[in-house]
Amino acid sequence: MAEKMDANLDYNNGQKDEAVIDTNRKLRVGIIGTGWIADSHIASYKRMPDVEIVAGCDLIPGKAAAFFKKHGMEGVKTEYASHKEMLDDESLKLDAVSVCTYNRQHAIPSIYALEKGVNVMLEKPFTVTLDEAIEVMKAEKKSGKVLSIGFQPRLDANMQMIKKIVESGELGQVYYIQTGGGRRRGIPTPFGTSFIEDKTAGLGALADIGCYSLDMVLNAIGYPKPLTVTGYKSDFFGKDPNYVGYGAHHEYADVFGVDDFAAAFVRLEGGIILDFRIAWAMNIDTPGDTIILGTKGGLRIPSTDCWNGTVGGPMKIYHEVCGQQTITEIPIINDGGPSLFDRKIRSFLDACKNGTPAPVPSSQIIYNQAILDGIAKSAELGREVEISVPEI
Ligand SMILES: NC(=O)c1ccc[n+]([C@@H]2O[C@H](COP(=O)([O-])OP(=O)(O)OC[C@H]3O[C@@H](n4cnc5c(N)ncnc54)[C@H](O)[C@@H]3O)[C@@H](O)[C@H]2O)c1
Repeated sequence: MAEKMDANLDYNNGQKDEAVIDTNRKLRVGIIGTGWIADSHIASYKRMPDVEIVAGCDLIPGKAAAFFKKHGMEGVKTEYASHKEMLDDESLKLDAVSVCTYNRQHAIPSIYALEKGVNVMLEKPFTVTLDEAIEVMKAEKKSGKVLSIGFQPRLDANMQMIKKIVESGELGQVYYIQTGGGRRRGIPTPFGTSFIEDKTAGLGALADIGCYSLDMVLNAIGYPKPLTVTGYKSDFFGKDPNYVGYGAHHEYADVFGVDDFAAAFVRLEGGIILDFRIAWAMNIDTPGDTIILGTKGGLRIPSTDCWNGTVGGPMKIYHEVCGQQTITEIPIINDGGPSLFDRKIRSFLDACKNGTPAPVPSSQIIYNQAILDGIAKSAELGREVEISVPEI
């Protein structure tokens, strides 16, 4: 049997192309961690005609069962105390898992799943430390399975336009990038404390939204190797008992154990400078637009506060036409295609089925993680650090 998905996309070049999905072979999927983001994974998997969701687990007893009940899927097996028990259950014949756990539990379940020969859709950020990411990549290589990291914003047509503009040569040789963004008051605590406690999150704004901001520009320029970084982190808002955000008083000052602001100056291979700042909370509306400066043109990407996969408005290219300084506006693109989350899940499933490369490969995101790790280390040491990523 084959089923057509309306307005599906060719994810590599962003062009419309109605995809035919082979439903003869259904992929058996499990969910590890049934918190907030798992809702989006389930919603997307349910829309895929070639997926059977067979199991789910959470460290909190009863949470996975309640999650599937909420989604009207009471037949799904959930009697597991952790990812390990679920992955050890051979009767499930799992093809793939979504790892939807908090940051500090990204590496362990992903490595275990890969060791069991199961494809992994891992939520962002890759991990907390570079060392963990290296271990996950080693397990990926050994397994030969697909590992894709959950960066859905790069599947947005506007994000893809940034890459197209850079690759077209319109900007000439890129030598300086300023990127980042953030919120005036937006420490993410409406769903509990897993984003702000060190034992669960490990890193704060730096990893949570900083990883997206880095991916936007690094993906556009082909992910050059990072060489050195001078980083800074602070937690003035998170630690303030009088902080007010998302309309509620901040009750979590005592448990806040991560950063709410980070900044860095990063040298990349090819002589490119990356100037970065990101905030969950700050006393300004934006730390600035993203700009990419090249020898022939400069690109301005208006900042966005929430990182939901959109650029903040029409982009502008500053260049010269026949000797005249000119500004070309790139209108916002709405390709009318599936949600970014559906694209993320679909492209992962296609890679699992066809044995094709992961849509968001670890070979790129390892450099994203190396920068986050370098910023954290440099901030701690109070000096510049060298970044070294081994060949895996
Ligand atoms: N892509 C996106 O748009 C997006 C949006 C929000 C969050 N996220 C990412 O998703 C991850 C989870 O975020 P969340 O808001 O859902 O967190 P959450 O705290 O609501 O849920 C995480 C769940 O994982 C469970 N868990 C942890 N370790 C486990 C293990 N080893 N086995 C089984 N269950 C385990 C926890 O008990 C918890 O219920 C974070 O890393 C976050 O960065 C991504």
